[in-house]
Amino acid sequence: MKVLVTGANGQLGTDLCKVVRDFEVVPLTHKDIEVSDMSSVKQVLTRHKPDIIINTAAYVRVDDCEDEKDRAFSVNALGARNVAVVAQELGARLVHMSTDYVFGGEHEPTSELVGEGLVPSQNEAEGLVPSQRKPEGLVPSQRKQEGLVPSQKKPKGIVPSRKPHPYTEFDRPVPINIYGQSKLAGENLVRHFCLRHFIVRSSALFGVAGSSGKEGNFVETMLRLAKERDELRVVNDQVFSPTYTKDLARKIVQLMTTECYGIFHITNKGACSWYEFAREILKLAGIKTRVVAITSEQYPQKACRPRYSVLDNYHLRLLGMDDMRPWQEALKDYLVARGYIGRQRDP
Ligand SMILES: NC(=O)c1ccc[n+]([C@@H]2O[C@H](COP(=O)([O-])OP(=O)(O)OC[C@H]3O[C@@H](n4cnc5c(N)ncnc54)[C@H](OP(=O)(O)O)[C@@H]3O)[C@@H](O)[C@H]2O)c1
Repeated sequence: MKVLVTGANGQLGTDLCKVVRDFEVVPLTHKDIEVSDMSSVKQVLTRHKPDIIINTAAYVRVDDCEDEKDRAFSVNALGARNVAVVAQELGARLVHMSTDYVFGGEHEPTSELVGEGLVPSQNEAEGLVPSQRKPEGLVPSQRKQEGLVPSQKKPKGIVPSRKPHPYTEFDRPVPINIYGQSKLAGENLVRHFCLRHFIVRSSALFGVAGSSGKEGNFVETMLRLAKERDELRVVNDQVFSPTYTKDLARKIVQLMTTECYGIFHITNKGACSWYEFAREILKLAGIKTRVVAITSEQYPQKACRPRYSVLDNYHLRLLGMDDMRPWQEALKDYLVARGYIGRQRDP
């Protein structure tokens, strides 16, 4: 079986290429293919005739996407469409990478959304039409009051829970930044144009190769800053599930040979804020630098970030395939792989 990987020198692409070694692998970097250009995609994919395509190529700089909306949609939406169209023509399966940032605009209990979850009805929610109104800085409840998100009539007798709970694949995505909108548009185009697809959403990736788009990852940034500064100030009101690309890559490879197509959330188990993530990184690395919790308002960024984007690996769990380990264990493994800490012997 021939497996073609786009973004092959990226953070996830690098680990995928290692894990798919049992198959015939075609690793493609940005030099080999331009996903936003249909003729490039057609020419390259037709030449290789893969059985499976794993598309990790993306424009991942979340803040830059706000200024470079056209680029974000060209790569993340039209690029996904191009790969999906050619995959369908070739009869190939397509694994397409997406993100937890398709969520965050609104969080409703799953029970109210079943039926809508897989086929969102609103163009804006689908990310096919980029929103003209910017929800920047607005928290979900404010957005609702201001009419940006149409409120849904609650069925009588059901009291909606406001306690955040992890998003399943059946929840309706509502992105709050351009990156999330463009990735959601990509998902919808993949679903539309390629029948045998796996859309894989993951979150806060860390991998040994480091993100080529972001020039590193959060773990490396924290370790570097901890050496340079006496104190780190880290946001404590954005909660998500950090995920090791090695674990994600293994699960993708396990999934891609099944016929269980659809949307999948794949993250390491558990959740934390950036502040908690930073504390664990320094604790495991044996670094004493003080970490101070701050709010998102104290660390203004161009793109609005979800306050809560924890993903539930619900689809995997229904298939009995959710054996993803806790993010802390994965992080320890990463730090060993990077040589920051030694491998501990079992007692
Ligand atoms: N990083 C995260 O925290 C995170 C979280 C959730 C989901 N994801 C998703 O996971 C996937 C992989 O992320 P990652 O962290 O591995 O990103 P990455 O390291 O930046 O890798 C992305 C790869 O795509 C290539 N690429 C960019 N634009 C391209 C284009 N127009 N045509 C062809 N190739 C192009 C990049 O090459 P160049 O660098 O040479 O341009 C790079 O090799 C992405 O789809 C991303 O949206 C990432």
